[in-house]
Amino acid sequence: MDQNLKKYLPPGLLLCEEKGVLKLCVQKDCPEFVGENFSPLWLDFVGQWKYHQSSLKAKTKEPLFKAIAGKLKKNTEVLDATCGLGGDSLLMLFLGFRVCSIERNPVVFSLLENAKKRALEHGDNSLVQAMGNWQIFLGEACEYFEKEGVGEGVIFLDPMYPEQKRKKALSSKEMRMLKYLLGESSDDQKLVQYFLRMSGKKLVVKRPLKGERVIDGVDHSVSGKSTRYDIYFAR
Ligand SMILES: C[S@@+](CC[C@H](N)C(=O)[O-])C[C@H]1O[C@@H](n2cnc3c(N)ncnc32)[C@H](O)[C@@H]1O
Repeated sequence: MDQNLKKYLPPGLLLCEEKGVLKLCVQKDCPEFVGENFSPLWLDFVGQWKYHQSSLKAKTKEPLFKAIAGKLKKNTEVLDATCGLGGDSLLMLFLGFRVCSIERNPVVFSLLENAKKRALEHGDNSLVQAMGNWQIFLGEACEYFEKEGVGEGVIFLDPMYPEQKRKKALSSKEMRMLKYLLGESSDDQKLVQYFLRMSGKKLVVKRPLKGERVIDGVDHSVSGKSTRYDIYFAR
């Protein structure tokens, strides 16, 4: 493990490497999860690729695809400005978009990088080809955008969902580990406002189905069973 990453780990979380797989582990004495057992968190892009392969056509009817695609051609670039564990980036990638993802947390970024490396080593041509259409950068989304811009594409944002007391018990252990690792985020509104003001691109913001809008001015929404995508057209 890169020793520099230690300073980004809150008490009781540990990064370890097992047979080339980087894993985020909860130690027994972790003050946040006293008396609970957690499996290590690691990313498996090969597994996700196999899973999506069997149902890609059906996925084009899903709200994420409808929200992103509109009249866009496949192969258009999507900027996933809040990559997280990469689930949404991967789905967009496997649906045929080119994806550029930004993640600001170095621990999360190292899990992504490690999983991408293992996916490239897997050797399957179509997986390697898909991975070639995915770039992942470590950094602040706004800073990246100021330097690099975004081509003809769409911007996708999935800020951390607000803590809902009623739903807390239902959060997956993976999500609880992630929230503990990342801490509270207070700049989600600023992020959405920034991209709306500066990008001149269509913005898609992922929210819980009944969650509040991050900012007003939504032009259109696409809803699924538990998620809503708020769309802001280029201003
Ligand atoms: C809710 S998670 C995204 C989950 C992701 N859509 C998925 O499918 O796994 C939000 C992520 O965005 C990152 N993030 C939040 N604000 C950011 C910013 N301004 N720049 C870059 N990354 C950011 C956080 O570190 C976190 O990992």
